[in-house]
Amino acid sequence: MKTRRILITGANGQLGRVLAEELRQKYGRDAVLVTDIQKISDDQAPFEFLDILNTVRLKELVGDYHITEIYHLAAILSAGGEFNPLKTWNINLNGLISILELANEFSLDRVFFPSTIAVFGKTTPRMNTPQDVPLLPTTVYGISKTSGELLCNYYHKRYNVDVRSLRYPGIISYQSIPAGGTTDYAVEIFHAAVKGEKYVCFLKEDTRLPMMYIDDAIRGTIELMEADASKLGIRYGYNLAAMSFTPGELYEAIRTYYPNFEIVYEPDFRQQIAESWTESIDDSEARKDWSWQEKFDLNAMVEVMITELRKYYQNSAQ
Ligand code: SER
Repeated sequence: MKTRRILITGANGQLGRVLAEELRQKYGRDAVLVTDIQKISDDQAPFEFLDILNTVRLKELVGDYHITEIYHLAAILSAGGEFNPLKTWNINLNGLISILELANEFSLDRVFFPSTIAVFGKTTPRMNTPQDVPLLPTTVYGISKTSGELLCNYYHKRYNVDVRSLRYPGIISYQSIPAGGTTDYAVEIFHAAVKGEKYVCFLKEDTRLPMMYIDDAIRGTIELMEADASKLGIRYGYNLAAMSFTPGELYEAIRTYYPNFEIVYEPDFRQQIAESWTESIDDSEARKDWSWQEKFDLNAMVEVMITELRKYYQNSAQ
């Protein structure tokens, strides 16, 4: 069997850091090349700097490291993207085109493209959103991901590129603080609670969004990438769900650990973005095609987040 050699772009983002570690555990450290525009620690080897728009460098890395698989995570998220729409389009869409072109040219075994609930818009059914629905995203991030989904589907049909994709809900993790996303409040709130601070929430109390704990997101990603290709009916982004909650419900769940924890709601421009997405997701295609099943509900997620962040802040105080 051919040796698996994985390249991750945007490896220092919220998903990338945890995914890289999981893939290293699974396939060995040398099998996973992490790339990003910034290095965060010296124990990241093998690491290479990579600006996703530098296609010459990208091609060199794929050749030099005999890459067989790419997890293409580099992107600008929904809220951050609104400060520079053209740059976001360029990075999110042209970055993906380079990856798909290389996948075709080098006959890579597999490519992973992260899509998102941000592909949905005001014309999409809000509850239990089915797989195939009208998509009219309002953010440039959502537009780039919707277009990216279509390109993935196209490269699969046209060139037989084995590209696989998930529409992630908001991801909740303790390993890093995400930046530039509309669902980031659901991570920030834990840091405030554990540090004993009041949290100023940028979404309204009753804004319900689909969410997922990081372990489910990473396991789902790897399970999709390991699934038998013949079982995968969808190449443009499987709906994926685990839980849905509002800031008010999350606050109440955290308050069982911190009864004096305080929150105030000061919605900003991200409120409109959140309202353009949907509240809950029907992921029956993922369940049917590759046996997707989440493990973490709201209470399990809150428990592990608080446990891990308490450890983190205790260690950093020593
Ligand atoms: N978590 C992302 C964001 O908020 C959605 O994909 O932008």
